[in-house]
Amino acid sequence: MNERRPARAVADERTAARLRRRLVADLRHSGCLHSDRVAGALGNVPRELFVGDIAAGQGLEAVYRNEPLPAKIDARGRWLSSSSQPSIMALMLEQLEVAPGQRVLEIGAGTGYNAALLRQLVGPAGTVTTIDIDPELARRARRALRQGGYRARVVVGDGRDGFTDGAPYDRIIVTASVEEIPNAWLDQLGPGGRLQLPLRLDSAALGQVIPVLELRDDHAESVAMTWGGFMPLHGGDGGQGPSPALEASEWTTGAYHPLVRITGPAPARLSEAARRRLLALVLEGPRSREPGGRLVTHWPAPPSLLLHLLMRVPATRRIELYRDGRQALGLMSPDGRDIAVASVPVRRMIRDSGLDARRHSRRDSWRIDTFGGAAMVGELEQIVEEWRALTRSGRTRLQIEARRSSAGSSADLRLVWEPRRRS
Ligand SMILES: C[S@@+](CC[C@H](N)C(=O)[O-])C[C@H]1O[C@@H](n2cnc3c(N)ncnc32)[C@H](O)[C@@H]1O
Repeated sequence: MNERRPARAVADERTAARLRRRLVADLRHSGCLHSDRVAGALGNVPRELFVGDIAAGQGLEAVYRNEPLPAKIDARGRWLSSSSQPSIMALMLEQLEVAPGQRVLEIGAGTGYNAALLRQLVGPAGTVTTIDIDPELARRARRALRQGGYRARVVVGDGRDGFTDGAPYDRIIVTASVEEIPNAWLDQLGPGGRLQLPLRLDSAALGQVIPVLELRDDHAESVAMTWGGFMPLHGGDGGQGPSPALEASEWTTGAYHPLVRITGPAPARLSEAARRRLLALVLEGPRSREPGGRLVTHWPAPPSLLLHLLMRVPATRRIELYRDGRQALGLMSPDGRDIAVASVPVRRMIRDSGLDARRHSRRDSWRIDTFGGAAMVGELEQIVEEWRALTRSGRTRLQIEARRSSAGSSADLRLVWEPRRRS
């Protein structure tokens, strides 16, 4: 140990190392982390180096909570960049299967923290290139990476074009969400390469599926999947920001506790008075029915019922709800007075408690909730019935295929339900 280093710095480093060990243990315990290599990277890289403002303002405890941390906020309070939640970072890195010696491209450098983790995973023989569209963020990420001794190339540019200089890549990881997959990303993958990206199934959807697409001869297909809620990849304007939400929360025990959160394209179209009425209606509580049957989930991918609804419910009438620890998705009448949703218990989706696979059982039940009138329930039941037919035939795994398109600049996507693979 360097004798001349201030005692404070030494104590902080010890504290940070202890907090890292605790975070890694928590992530393992909650089922988000199995790989010793990813655990080793998370246990080694000091997150405080990449979120210096948070460390200085809120202390090391805040740095090592399983929470996303803002890296840049605009005048309206919108997050333009963040260090993502460690549990989703761990899950993604684990599914991406980064090996020593590989060439990796990250799109969305942000703080540089994930690039440092990637650097650990590829080892001295590999390369890491990371791109951010925001020059200030890129500069900060470059400085932090250099300070920590993590060799990574930080490029300023639009990640939608990839980065041809370093291609072909073994792995491309995108840490902002997209609705389309640029051909360039498929073009820049080497044989057997993998592309991982948060994919919005439509522009208004809050949640995203995050597939790992593996390059096969003339297309890429999903080999693993999880879900998350990443900010959009944009053209330099900060993007549209999150879709509008109505929320009622409690702060009685000193901790923030969301009671009801309403999102989705349909509520956003209502007048202010109608939105308030809608919030009151949902707070009041549903009439619920448990039709029975198993909720099929393939942890860590989202419950197939929610995915099916997301793909089938018309966007103009779609409402998404969080209430009483359940996530729900369904239909709303144009005036907001009739709502029918299918809901599933998703304790593991709640941001502040992190993902918790242990508490989620495949026997967890789903149910149909109606708020206000019951005008939407018939149509919802029809869509749910399609999902039940899929589960009866064993086709509960969403498979995503991306094929380079010669007509446009984005790949053609195909989403199909397939039988569950035996692992
Ligand atoms: C969630 S943050 C990335 C977190 C980062 N991987 C980390 O470890 O801190 C998303 C980042 O994507 C960047 N971004 C948005 N649009 C982009 C684009 N078209 N090209 C490259 N980066 C982009 C944002 O500036 C932001 O820093």
